[in-house]
Amino acid sequence: MEKKNLDWSNLGFGYIKTDKRFVANYKDGAWDDGVITDDDKVVISECAGVLQYAQTCFEGMKAYTTQDGHVVIFRPDMNAERMANSCRRLEMPVYPEDKFVDAVAKVVKENDAWVPPYGSGATLYIRPYMFGSNPVIGVKPADEYQFRVFVTPVGPYFKGGAKPLTIKVSDFDRAAPHGTGHIKAGLNYAMSLHAIVTAHEEGYAENMYLDPATRTKVEETGGANFLFITKDGKVVTPKSDSILPSITRRSLVYVAKEYLGLEVEEREVLFDEVKDFAECGLCGTAAVISPVGKIVNHGEEICLPSGMEKMGPTIQKLYDTLTGIQMGTIEAPEGWIYKVE
Ligand code: PLP
Ligand code: COI
Repeated sequence: MEKKNLDWSNLGFGYIKTDKRFVANYKDGAWDDGVITDDDKVVISECAGVLQYAQTCFEGMKAYTTQDGHVVIFRPDMNAERMANSCRRLEMPVYPEDKFVDAVAKVVKENDAWVPPYGSGATLYIRPYMFGSNPVIGVKPADEYQFRVFVTPVGPYFKGGAKPLTIKVSDFDRAAPHGTGHIKAGLNYAMSLHAIVTAHEEGYAENMYLDPATRTKVEETGGANFLFITKDGKVVTPKSDSILPSITRRSLVYVAKEYLGLEVEEREVLFDEVKDFAECGLCGTAAVISPVGKIVNHGEEICLPSGMEKMGPTIQKLYDTLTGIQMGTIEAPEGWIYKVE
């Protein structure tokens, strides 16, 4: 299929309307079969559960063109599982995990002309989401839901591509203990909007959130998990019940151990330790691995020894291996790559 005429290498992380999307509806206790449609508009009641009480969750994953010309999706089964967990926590009906993967693959296939070419630096971002669609005025879950999947071609999440970022320690909290930080609920992101606007106004690319209970431990950013590298080359990544279980982070932990032979510690990370790390990166579907060069805590600067010019060497190796697996230049672990036929 002929590709769309886009300037693939200069895409930012934005929404571009593509040709087809998937829509399924839940009513009377069951999902319908769902359809592929051209219609990008959603029409719902003014009193829909999502509009009143933010009953919505979403997912994010990517499709890639491999070196040998296939279109593949990275670990969509993991997103299906995480979305099911999000739905359960938000009292929403689970969209069956196998059907989730089928719907995602269908939308990618239908929008083949929008899948960025190999080597362009762009990818196809896939956004499944669900929301309560019928009127709800007392505080309770909706009875009817819509599940949708759209795709949009994207470039790097952070302006400047792979240049190290400066981030700040946020005074706001992202997720409460025993709250919803571990699921991909829209409400977590609504909570973070004031914090990210504030950070951007002050010239920072992102926020480092600390644990709300003690403000001594590193949690994550608004849209990515942290990876740190110690001066002796170990990978350290925060463990917390209130951070999103990043599929990228879990994949990188495997890559670090099994491909690169690195030692990995998944544990609580004290903010006090951060000054002793050699490298820091933000990992996620959108962020891939974006290096952090500087972390500012109320005027006090922590400058990572990897500097402000390029990624540190260990983060670079992790980045190269992960993106090699995604783009088909490095053999993937069993089950990580879903080929869109
Ligand atoms: N943390 C948050 C808050 C996110 O929004 C994301 C993005 O999905 C991640 C972490 C990274 O998760 P993943 O690697 O599954 O995309
Ligand atoms: C993703 O990486 O898929 C996310 O949802 C993060 C968001 C900041 C775009």
